[in-house]
Amino acid sequence: MAITVFTASCNGQSRKTDGSSSQSKKVLIISSSPSKGGNSDLLCDEFLRGAKDAGHEAEKVFLNDLDIQFLRIKDDYTDRNLEINDDAPKVVAKMIEADVIVMATPIYNDNMCGQMKTMMDRVFERESEVKNKEFYFIMTAGGSNTGCALLGFRNFIRYLPGSKEKGVIQGTGIHLKGTVKGKPVMKEAYEMGKNV
Ligand SMILES: Cc1cc2nc3c(=O)[nH]c(=O)nc-3n(C[C@H](O)[C@H](O)[C@H](O)COP(=O)(O)O)c2cc1C
Repeated sequence: MAITVFTASCNGQSRKTDGSSSQSKKVLIISSSPSKGGNSDLLCDEFLRGAKDAGHEAEKVFLNDLDIQFLRIKDDYTDRNLEINDDAPKVVAKMIEADVIVMATPIYNDNMCGQMKTMMDRVFERESEVKNKEFYFIMTAGGSNTGCALLGFRNFIRYLPGSKEKGVIQGTGIHLKGTVKGKPVMKEAYEMGKNV
């Protein structure tokens, strides 16, 4: 018979002894690769599976399926974005609703891909509302240089009040579509999702 032991933590949230939280969280996973079923997207799916197995309410959005246009602003920075009728505001609304946000990108030209950067720019108008979130970052690269993308993610959350970085998954040396399958990083993503 499985026995789950709970311990009280200093923030009042009970935690299981396996490290996972007993409190159901809203988890939003933002998958930004243009490659559906590609390496970073597969890691997103594993994170999603882990979060759902732990009883969390988890959802993945695949940016390339959506209409996400570039940020437009007025010269005086007022009325930014208001004239764009696309899917970005819906994603931002989901970010505001979420407790946990996972941001996943392939490494392109030693950086995050344009889809993710464009989405991050579109948060601009409501960044003060994307507050008190726990963030996880997922990156996949043919080589090993994920530093610029990670720095970009960290700089992004610096402007979001009360944000906390909780975990990073780096699938390096992974080039062709699907080669992440069977690699230890898949289990890492599942476990990280399970322990949000
Ligand atoms: C346009 C483009 C640029 C890339 N640039 C890099 C790079 O600078 N460094 C690197 O390690 N891999 C680079 N790659 C390889 C991808 O990072 C790698 O294939 C990754 O696993 C793709 O993830 P995905 O399947 O989630 O899209 C590039 C791939 C593409 C298509």
